[in-house]
Amino acid sequence: MTSSSTRLSPTEITRQAVDSFAATPDARSREILQSLVTHLHAFVTDVGLTEREWADAVAVLTATGHITDDRRQEFVLWSDTLGVSMLVDALAHPSPGGATESTILGPFYVPGSPLREHGADIAEQEAGTPAWIRGRVRSLDGTPIAGAELDVWQNGDNELYAVQDPDAPDDHLRGRFLTDDDGGFSFRAVRPVPYRIPDDGPVGRMLAATGRHPWRPAHIHVVVRAAGHATLTTHLFDAESHHLHDDTVFAVKPTLVHSFAARAADDPARPPGIEESWVELEIDLVLAPSDHPADPFVDGGRTH
Ligand code: BEZ
Ligand code: FE
Repeated sequence: MTSSSTRLSPTEITRQAVDSFAATPDARSREILQSLVTHLHAFVTDVGLTEREWADAVAVLTATGHITDDRRQEFVLWSDTLGVSMLVDALAHPSPGGATESTILGPFYVPGSPLREHGADIAEQEAGTPAWIRGRVRSLDGTPIAGAELDVWQNGDNELYAVQDPDAPDDHLRGRFLTDDDGGFSFRAVRPVPYRIPDDGPVGRMLAATGRHPWRPAHIHVVVRAAGHATLTTHLFDAESHHLHDDTVFAVKPTLVHSFAARAADDPARPPGIEESWVELEIDLVLAPSDHPADPFVDGGRTH
């Protein structure tokens, strides 16, 4: 037993901090907190963190809190740019087993997108080259899934998501679609363009200080929810995009990269309303089964 007047060694400080969680009633919380303190102390010891460096770190965390609000999520940007989001994804989905692979949600998901009709346009104002996206949602054994919900969102050719763009209507470039009896879906979008993640805050300062860039390859986000199936959070990446090999958030998986076929303005197969050249992507989205009757979709602490 150490008396309060005895000077503690670094190892003893760590042991005291770890032991302070010993009576945590929830076993998983206890495991996580004790491991967190163990690894955090090991990191501080390993790099010999100075008082000045620790004060700088606290200032970075404070700046992260100050810049974060309902429309800007700097904590998610840290998770994404440090590779934690993709590590959590890899641990959660060690093997796709024939299902469509998952990737990160990102900070620009906004719940409650409008439910739109088959074939509807998610662009509420001019946003780039029209893209016709269609396909089928099915389960691992090939059975079409009727009534699955696709929740889609993307940036426009100004690089911005609606939630970042004060000039865009709130529901611009986002929407929800239900699959028909054959599991089919279709919607109009725009060909996505590469964009920079927000780099005017602490994460941007980290990227600049370390010689990293803020670019992501062009993609459309899709979340697919269906009863009896695991919710799928994924991207449709454009095979012709820059930055497929150096995505700043490490989120590209080869199976998620797709060729958007170029179509002429006078192509007889063009969907209603398209009068210029356009691109087309046909894609099957395959869901893994889930033991949960309605797999909850968790978004930054909110469960839908
Ligand atoms: C996104 O894909 O929307 C995204 C992901 C990580 C950081 C910033 C944006
Ligand atoms: Fe994105």
